Amino acid sequence: MAAVDHDRAAQVGAQPLDVKAIRSDFPILDVEVNGRRLVYLDSASSSQKPRQVLDAMTRYYETTHANVHRGVYAIAEEATRQFEEARAKLARLVNARSAREIVFTKNVTEAINLVAHSWGRRNLTAGDAVLLTEMEHHANLVPWLMLAEERGIELRYIRLTADGQLDLSDLDRLVDGVKLVGVTCMSNVLGTINPVAELAEAAHSAGALFLADAAQYVPHLATDIQQLGCDFLGFTGHKMLGPTGIGCLWAREDLLEEMPPFLGGGEMISDVRLDGFLPADVPWKFEAGTPPIAEAIGLGAAVDYLTGLGMDAVRRHEVELTSYALCKLAADHPDLVIYGPADPASRGGVISLALGDIHAHDLSQVLDTAGVCVRAGHHCAKPLMRHLGVTATARASFYVYNDESDVDALSEALAEARKFFG
Ligand code: ALA
Repeated sequence: MAAVDHDRAAQVGAQPLDVKAIRSDFPILDVEVNGRRLVYLDSASSSQKPRQVLDAMTRYYETTHANVHRGVYAIAEEATRQFEEARAKLARLVNARSAREIVFTKNVTEAINLVAHSWGRRNLTAGDAVLLTEMEHHANLVPWLMLAEERGIELRYIRLTADGQLDLSDLDRLVDGVKLVGVTCMSNVLGTINPVAELAEAAHSAGALFLADAAQYVPHLATDIQQLGCDFLGFTGHKMLGPTGIGCLWAREDLLEEMPPFLGGGEMISDVRLDGFLPADVPWKFEAGTPPIAEAIGLGAAVDYLTGLGMDAVRRHEVELTSYALCKLAADHPDLVIYGPADPASRGGVISLALGDIHAHDLSQVLDTAGVCVRAGHHCAKPLMRHLGVTATARASFYVYNDESDVDALSEALAEARKFFG
């Protein structure tokens, strides 16, 4: 089976990131919290934004804001050009065959809902099966649970091994007869990077389509939809240095052509009469109403920023930093529970942890007094929490602006928390 090499970065010798220079691009990192420097370790939830993204959005509003695909005056044509240029940048980022395969959505949740509503309602009837995994976050569970309730489709799940990997020992049986396999490329809780190409191949051999939830993947690893072999892939802008309110569904153009529209309204039609309508061409057929124009342009600037760093360099930086964090935290806190695979090459820069019997929310509040921001809670993955036997974890997550000093600050803050809860 084809496998994707997650550590291509090490082999191609990606240049180390200049984190000091990167940090100077992020105004928020100069903010102090409780008199301490901001140590932002919550990028899996939402990343911070570089000045280049903020400036692109401001420049757009200050110089050329108008609605897109409508006006025939200069600033409207320029707004349309910049909006469509952002689509082309996303297409290049994931190696799409054409920008027509890129649908702008609000976020990854909307991207997956689009597939469930449009492709799912057209193709799934009672008794059809969809295969998901126990590590999905709610965005790739609830739309299918809704469809199961409405249509009586069967949902199957790939369970997990003790070290937080997908248990593929029973894959042949699970995939047999399913119409769609939907899997996260990287767990937002465990950091586990899944064998996406292998799963896509298994789906196709069983005659199923393959949907990848890449919300935690596209921001951190070079993504090639052709190499991964996906049919649908969703991701979101705000986790990859872009603004909130903009995400993306990449889908094979022939699938988009066959799928009925999702939301109805302006922009998504080519003609409307009182007795019917004709949809627009793809991808606009899925983009009803005025789209998030400034957000798309900001996301385009985020793609430029990441491409400038090089996705191989981004991945290499995160493997090194995760490796450092796993060693440092285990050495400083022998009783700390760290969930997920032990090997940094099998995971992304996400570390879910538990310190003794301190509740994750309490721990997060004490870390905040030291300026350290981590997410506490169920991370929108309640079934996975049940599998782990916990209601919540504290989760630190890294990105291009984090370095070893942030891990050291986390470790010191954990020591302070231990003293506080005595
Ligand atoms: N799924 C996002 C997270 O992991 C919101 O924080």
